Amino acid sequence: MAGNPSPFSDVTETLFADKTVLDEEYQPSTILERDAEISAYTNALRHVLFGRNPQNVFVYGKAGVGKTAVTQYMLDALQGEAADREEADELHVLFHNCNGDSAYGTLRSLINTLRDVGPDHDDAFPKKGLSMGDALETFYGALEERGGTFLLVLDEIDHLSDANSLLYELPRARANGHLDRAKVGVIGISNNYTFRDSLAPKVKDTLMETEISFSPYDADELYTILDHRVEQAFVDGSCDSGAISKSAALAARDTGSARQAIDLLRTGGDIAEERGESVVTAQHIDEAQDRVQRGRATDKIRDQTRHGQLVLEAVARLEDAGESPVRSKRIQATYEEVARSAGTDPLTTLKSIQNHLGDLTMLGFLNRTERNEGQSGGVYYEYELSLDVEAVFEAREAIESQRT
Ligand SMILES: Nc1ncnc2c1ncn2[C@@H]1O[C@H](COP(=O)(O)OP(=O)(O)O)[C@@H](O)[C@H]1O
Ligand SMILES: [Mg+2]
Repeated sequence: MAGNPSPFSDVTETLFADKTVLDEEYQPSTILERDAEISAYTNALRHVLFGRNPQNVFVYGKAGVGKTAVTQYMLDALQGEAADREEADELHVLFHNCNGDSAYGTLRSLINTLRDVGPDHDDAFPKKGLSMGDALETFYGALEERGGTFLLVLDEIDHLSDANSLLYELPRARANGHLDRAKVGVIGISNNYTFRDSLAPKVKDTLMETEISFSPYDADELYTILDHRVEQAFVDGSCDSGAISKSAALAARDTGSARQAIDLLRTGGDIAEERGESVVTAQHIDEAQDRVQRGRATDKIRDQTRHGQLVLEAVARLEDAGESPVRSKRIQATYEEVARSAGTDPLTTLKSIQNHLGDLTMLGFLNRTERNEGQSGGVYYEYELSLDVEAVFEAREAIESQRT
């Protein structure tokens, strides 16, 4: 039977040789332009190779400047080296992203990783009913059982609202007699330097044993990083050097983020490919800016606490249903549904929802209008979304699908 020609028959991979190299999750095997940071890291972690206690490390810098990539690279390298050294204890790296989590949830997740079970498994540490002290005791027990050196990487630690308790206890576990066979080092990574000021002085002293700051990249540094990626990602000759310098220049001027620069390049490639063109040029990068901007809304949303995001999603749903502008009480009801369907216990007080609404307004996600109910009534606020509804839904989907 003669059907249509396949709608895909003309689609060929002309531009990209290996597009995964431009993915958000891609872990580069080569780190460029971060020699000083790498050597500071080497100094802090070298003790592990001699069976000594690791130093605690605090890493900070804006989003997209290589904090996670460099940390992962360092820990891979350290694990490789430690395996070859007699004096080194067995090294375990526990990596946790704290975004949307509490100190208790963080410990719980670390315990489950050690038990090698998912969060809903029968043997998983309970979600509630136990105290922080119980969680710490269980955690120490699990560390002792295995023994060796543990490096706890707490990425995006600035999202923990109650970081003090955790960060006070963990580095002192050995000195306080909770650990004997196990040694612990904490690596805290923050997008936000002011997080430091929210810590108790005693916590600062221990966690900030070594501080490594990551500055924004300039255009030359971004060019080097991009140029290297292009070699792997694109077919030879299909990415113009003008496209690379344009991406580097735009990202340097805006945020200094390698993530943004890579996004521009990938999106420019998409645009060229969609049009059936065989070379990505500076022009495509110019056009990519709008699309990437939308993607960056996702990053900004991702930087919010989990409940902040759920409140924002609730406002988006109401907007989508034609119900906005809308009052906080109504938002709360929708938020509760959103939270439940995301598998999270909702915050219970209207006040806490109003606090999130206030924060989201301040950050420019929402618009707030003051209303007056006339003589009898009081003053109240109505909220509406100042972002594109679809952008919020897309962002939330992307964020949820990345949660582990
Ligand atoms: N120095 C670098 N060399 C190579 N790739 C880098 C470098 N810095 C950042 N990247 C890449 O840029 C993106 C953002 O880096 P990431 O480590 O996630 O930033 P952060 O954790 O600081 O937000 C990632 O894709 C990462 O692989
Ligand atoms: Mg990161």
